[in-house]
Amino acid sequence: MILPMVVAAKSLNKRYRDVVAVAALDFEVEKGQCYGLVGPNGAGKTTTMKMVYCIVTPTSGSLRVFDMEVSLQPRKIKARLGVVPQENNLDPDLTVCQNLMTHASYFGLSRDVARSRCQELLGFVQLSERSDSRVPDISGGMKRRLVLARSLINNPDLLILDEPTTGLDPQVRHLIWDRLLELKDRGITLLLTTHYMEEAQKLCDRVLIMDQANAVDMGSPAGLVRKHVPPYVLELRVERRLIQKIQERFRHLGHQMSGQNVYFYGNSQDEFEEIVAAYPDTERIMRPASLEDVFLKLTGREIRQ
Ligand SMILES: Nc1ncnc2c1ncn2[C@@H]1O[C@H](COP(=O)(O)OP(=O)(O)OP(=O)(O)O)[C@@H](O)[C@H]1O
Ligand SMILES: [Mg+2]
Repeated sequence: MILPMVVAAKSLNKRYRDVVAVAALDFEVEKGQCYGLVGPNGAGKTTTMKMVYCIVTPTSGSLRVFDMEVSLQPRKIKARLGVVPQENNLDPDLTVCQNLMTHASYFGLSRDVARSRCQELLGFVQLSERSDSRVPDISGGMKRRLVLARSLINNPDLLILDEPTTGLDPQVRHLIWDRLLELKDRGITLLLTTHYMEEAQKLCDRVLIMDQANAVDMGSPAGLVRKHVPPYVLELRVERRLIQKIQERFRHLGHQMSGQNVYFYGNSQDEFEEIVAAYPDTERIMRPASLEDVFLKLTGREIRQ
């Protein structure tokens, strides 16, 4: 028996007046997967997510979530979703705990059940001690963790995370990664956007790269790296005046630019010997190719412009 996909988009389009935000998008998310949407600012990631969580109506095409069409059964779909939106939308007049309790009431949870879920979830995101704090008095990282806790109040089958860790310090980012992997282990399907390729590589089974409303490619992080870039990278941080000279001299090696960094690609580290010999004092890193290299190659842009 073929199980239905948790999310299935076919020729999905969204147009805002004269802006095409999402064009002819096809993708499928299997149960239990972590599926990532990555792409430069304005690529259409948030619009795609908003159509999945039924607050933006597709212009055309089909979008099925839990095998139901979003335009026909939004209430049934929303009941089984958790959402961490790109912008925190907490109620600033309420405490941490009251924010969760209010959200629980939308799903019809009794006060007793809501209270115990609230305690459990605040423990899960390490916020138990701030239960009675007002929202304006907690840090940005705490607000993000609270939004994550809130998204879990209804025990969702699909969790939608729009840039869950943007702007957070490394410790909070690692805590959130750890919790997301735990949720995935419990069988919850995750649909995530991020500008951090390290995050996509760590968490996602499948990644869809978008640019200017279109899908550019899709695959596993490792598969995308194998397909698009040679295995070794030499990163050189060079003075601006030298960039053109270096590019011309080593034209025969594949390379990309990002700010003051030049990335050279090779099938073995030996291929970089002449560059290192020519610029021995230049700051450099030799590393395996990553999803970030694929991103730069396919979208031709820096991660954050
Ligand atoms: N409500 C709206 N009205 C008009 N245009 C919109 C609206 N929402 C999004 N857009 C446009 O649709 C395009 C895609 O925006 P979207 O927010 O989906 O991008 P994104 O990939 O999430 O970008 P970011 O990485 O900056 O969050 C952009 O050109 C944006 O200006
Ligand atoms: Mg966005």
